[in-house]
Amino acid sequence: MTAYPVDMTVTPEVETFFDPATWTFTHVVKDPNSDACAVVDSVMDIDYAAGRITYDNADRVIAYIREKGLKLEWLLETHVHADHLSAAPYIQEALGGKIGIGEKITVVQDTFGKIFNEGTEFQRDGSQFDALFKDGDTFMIGTMQGFAMHTPGHTPACMTHVIGNAAFVGDTLFMPDGGSARADFPGGDAGTLYDSIQKVLALPDEMRVFMCHDYGPNGRDIEYLTSVGEEKRHNIHVGQGKTREDFIKFRTERDATLDVPRLILPSLQVNMRAGEIPTDKDGRPMLKLPINQL
Ligand SMILES: [Fe+2]
Repeated sequence: MTAYPVDMTVTPEVETFFDPATWTFTHVVKDPNSDACAVVDSVMDIDYAAGRITYDNADRVIAYIREKGLKLEWLLETHVHADHLSAAPYIQEALGGKIGIGEKITVVQDTFGKIFNEGTEFQRDGSQFDALFKDGDTFMIGTMQGFAMHTPGHTPACMTHVIGNAAFVGDTLFMPDGGSARADFPGGDAGTLYDSIQKVLALPDEMRVFMCHDYGPNGRDIEYLTSVGEEKRHNIHVGQGKTREDFIKFRTERDATLDVPRLILPSLQVNMRAGEIPTDKDGRPMLKLPINQL
């Protein structure tokens, strides 16, 4: 097992934004010792029925970073999201920074390049991104060192980004009462997800765990922050020593009942291009609707 450079002595300052349309959290992660920051999992707004793209969520994040006088160094994606569109290129255009994702993005590009019948002009080598992280790769945000931990299962390219005592787990874990995300997308796997969750739970108990989503189960208010210790003790899908077999059985049965996410088709086409909207042969922004492919 990879030995990860965990450093619990560094406490990044985290400002969290919530998009109620897609139940997504965007985190601005600031180095306590400099003005450097990173944005984890941004959101571009879409009215799918109208084919209309807007930037209210991204503009809020940009305004916050400008107001605080921060320097944006990274736009980190935990994975290729299937439920919202990334605004990383829009924020990058305004503030700079590098867009980073897991190196297994190439697997996702290969799978969905076929489903969307993309031509040869769609590169499947991850070159749309500025950085492709391997398991254990490190990156700097000002004076803070972060690292990427490969946590596949929900998708093949899922990464948990660990920065000081803060872990950004994407969809690998939800709040303890939310459990875990589905593992039935192309390239997903319930057993692999269980193994990845164990990697997260092997981090120190005091590690803060920041959500990518929360749906407020059982009518409680939306929450975005827990800890490894809390997940170990209380997670309804993997806590209290539930076995891999229990998890696979439960996850597979549950996933069979779930609807296809409302925004999966636009999300994948945009997010597999690092957040760029594809264009047609005349260069106009255009999305496809593949029939009976999912
Ligand atoms: Fe996801």
